[in-house]
Amino acid sequence: MKYLIIANWKQHKTISEAINWLKEFNHLIDQRSSLSQVVICPPFPLLRPMQQALGDAKNSRLHLGAQDISPFEKGPYTGEVGPLQLKDLVNYVIIGHSERRQHFGETDEQVAQKVKLCIKHALTPIVCVSGLDQVKVLSRLQRSSNFGQARVTRGALQAPLIIAYEPLTAISTGPVGKLDTPEHATQMALAIKASLGQNTKVIYGGSVDEENIKRFLRQKELNGALVGQASLDVKKFIKIINAIPTNQ
Ligand code: PGA
Repeated sequence: MKYLIIANWKQHKTISEAINWLKEFNHLIDQRSSLSQVVICPPFPLLRPMQQALGDAKNSRLHLGAQDISPFEKGPYTGEVGPLQLKDLVNYVIIGHSERRQHFGETDEQVAQKVKLCIKHALTPIVCVSGLDQVKVLSRLQRSSNFGQARVTRGALQAPLIIAYEPLTAISTGPVGKLDTPEHATQMALAIKASLGQNTKVIYGGSVDEENIKRFLRQKELNGALVGQASLDVKKFIKIINAIPTNQ
């Protein structure tokens, strides 16, 4: 099975820092290791320069994702970036991160609207949830629209929906910053898959590092990790990728 390891850079890095990170990643990563699909989600202005840099690095194993998307397709929405701008740059979009819900008042309805737009434009949504009430909203959306089928995007089979289970208390830069247990994350993954379908990929996020990732990914219900702080340092991030258990 291929694990999804997603880096959420949040509001960090300049263009030159990002390009240096990429160069170092491509230099240091073990090209033989194919256990993971790695997606980097930088701030919007870094997407195009990073796409160009990836194009130059022929064997890069990295994919790009956005950290958010407008709930509107296009139009007079100052400051927003929509699917028509993103679809030439990324395959993935993070939606409903707890920091967006907390600092920008993002609602479940907006999250649902963003998921719908992603599906319409063949972008794979990575929906962050901290509890099952947020999963219920997605389940209603799933019943009322037609997502749920795997599809082929740019030659790669992609899951239709990725759920990042991130307990509010586990985000490293949050007020608590306490890692969840693999057992509890597994229970949540089972409940999420029961609600959204067994096809759904569930990844864990919150204080993931090279020490604890093994314990999470040994649980077969967890399909990867969303990594914030520890993804900013390329050496730490590569250690996380290299720590992925090989015995499954
Ligand atoms: P963290 O962030 O790895 O720094 O806890 C995860 C996230 O907020 O997505």
